[in-house]
Amino acid sequence: MKKKVAIFISGRGSNMKSLLDFSKNEGKEIFSVDLVISNKSNAGGVSIANAYGIETRICTSEEEILTVLSYTKVDLICLAGFMKILSKDFISSVGCNIINIHPSLLPSFKGLNAQAKALAAGVKITGCTVHYVTPEVDAGKIIIQGAVPVFKNDTVDSLSKRILKAEHKCFPIALEKVLTDNIRADFIFLQE
Ligand code: GRF
Repeated sequence: MKKKVAIFISGRGSNMKSLLDFSKNEGKEIFSVDLVISNKSNAGGVSIANAYGIETRICTSEEEILTVLSYTKVDLICLAGFMKILSKDFISSVGCNIINIHPSLLPSFKGLNAQAKALAAGVKITGCTVHYVTPEVDAGKIIIQGAVPVFKNDTVDSLSKRILKAEHKCFPIALEKVLTDNIRADFIFLQE
């Protein structure tokens, strides 16, 4: 049976859009996005979600999120640039898995500014990770990773753009993996 997904955002929502597009095309038998929650009313992703006609709620507390989720029940929550750390109580009481996308090859470069941390460390390969959310930030079980090269002249901006392309490919594959028995890939390598 088709699964119901909620996406939590705080910003521009490009990963949310990649999941929405997948849910309407290749992934249409697998899941629908039934709810978008943003903790910021001015997040760019909110207008994208509205344009797609998805129920969209602005919630500034976990209590508000739980109330919305008690009306719109979902099978999976995807954090797509949701810049708020969820409490242990929320994670254990929400009643479904939560997955997150992070712009590094975890366990390297946890937390904020992962792309800048990768550049500063001088790594030659970095990427993104989709993982389960646990109370410890960026430490849950890894679902899929996408690797990209780091070039000599990269800036945080150019590297972030390359990683974002990998993110947009990995997140839908991760959902497919979590929601079905079909494991299309455990990792991708985006060479360009
Ligand atoms: C992405 O880089 C994601 O990995 C991180 O926040 C950013 C969100 O970008 N968690 P967007 O809002 O999906 O465009």
